Amino acid sequence: MLLWTKKLAIRLLATVMICNFMVCTFTGCGDQKESGEEKSPTGEVQKVQPTKEGEEDTPTPTSTPTPTEPEKEVRTDFYISSIDEKIPSMYEYWKEYFSIGIAITKGELLNDFKGELIVQQFNSMTCGNEMKPDALLDREATKSKGTETCPVLKFDSCDEMLSFCVDHNIKMRGHTLVWHSQTPDWFFMEGYSNKQDAVFASREVMLARMENYIRLVMEYVNTTYPGVVYAWDVVNEAIAPGDGGENGMRMSDSLWYQTIGPDFVEKAFEYARKYAAPEQKLFYNDFNTYEAAKRIAILELVNKIKDQGNIDGIGMQSHIGMSSPTLLDYEETIRKFGETGLEIHITELDINLDSNSEEDFMKEGTRYKRLFFTFKNLVDTGVANITNITVWGLTDEGSWLNKDGKRYPLLFNQVLETKPAFWGILMDEGIPLY
Ligand code: XIL
Repeated sequence: MLLWTKKLAIRLLATVMICNFMVCTFTGCGDQKESGEEKSPTGEVQKVQPTKEGEEDTPTPTSTPTPTEPEKEVRTDFYISSIDEKIPSMYEYWKEYFSIGIAITKGELLNDFKGELIVQQFNSMTCGNEMKPDALLDREATKSKGTETCPVLKFDSCDEMLSFCVDHNIKMRGHTLVWHSQTPDWFFMEGYSNKQDAVFASREVMLARMENYIRLVMEYVNTTYPGVVYAWDVVNEAIAPGDGGENGMRMSDSLWYQTIGPDFVEKAFEYARKYAAPEQKLFYNDFNTYEAAKRIAILELVNKIKDQGNIDGIGMQSHIGMSSPTLLDYEETIRKFGETGLEIHITELDINLDSNSEEDFMKEGTRYKRLFFTFKNLVDTGVANITNITVWGLTDEGSWLNKDGKRYPLLFNQVLETKPAFWGILMDEGIPLY
């Protein structure tokens, strides 16, 4: 703890010195920052909040670059402590376009420094794990008090997170109701058995369990925390072309597919619509949506559910690499999804960078900036109704990708300093667009 504080103090001092130097260089010493304006790492005062093109009184943000912008000198002074310095708010910056979300775990959220940073930067939240079926399904209570068709749930995993959202006026993406992963096998078995020789429950029983599960989650959340959840990931990752299921559906590891059959997705959306609050949006969410075969299968599926009136949006997880997918392929998927007329959420954005060199951090900043530039253009041109961008985690250290401790996919480092990636999202001039 002492070491951490000392390290932070040293970095802070260094950062403050660099920033002071930059302020002098770029704005002239003695310039006062006006209220309502924020400091960028270049020390320049930048206006926040781009407004959508085509609207009246819509100056483009002073810091928004154009593709013809001359190449800027590569800078390395982006590491500003979010604990002690006032940094611009991403959600404020983008509020005319989309909400900015964070996926977070309960432990991280309840950390004072991280909680404060989250409130400052994000107006949408996703529980990293706390609202998934394995967190909510209570086997003991189900065995003692449930019925063969109706499980018993517990919500201690996500209660504090939902309360946090109420207290700080943050909206929640409900993640996720029906998923092959993080759903216990016993939920699919006769008598909720967890024995080796357990047998699958029938299609009828599983449909009833699915309906009751969705009903119980929605009833609890919507009566205890009304108005907090604005979107549900009703079904996650049901498409996996080549896995053997009908119409490109995931089969081999999906017990939903195996017990109910290929219409389980449609049924899930039917039940979700039945119990959701009228203003809540229902999403189909998946990864690698930019792969052609997957994109086509997803489109077929969501268009069918759209015809039934039971879906409002498509979630593109967007766990991407530094060079793959190409922005062209990624954008092509957004365009195709946009043609459906459904809302689009970027639900789980991170960039799997495996180096922490300054140079690579800058390249990562560029990739984030280009992504947001793309999102902005697609909204401005009316091509896609992108309404939320969520990053999957706060710090590199806490990222789900960081099993080997060598991944740097996010916007803040472990001492909560901003990385170039953060400034890229704010379209800062110091981050090259190319
Ligand atoms: C991840 C969590 O972040 C991890 O903590 C957990 O161990 C596995 O799941 N797609 C999803 C998310 O829809 O729910 C996953 O979250 C990441 C991939």
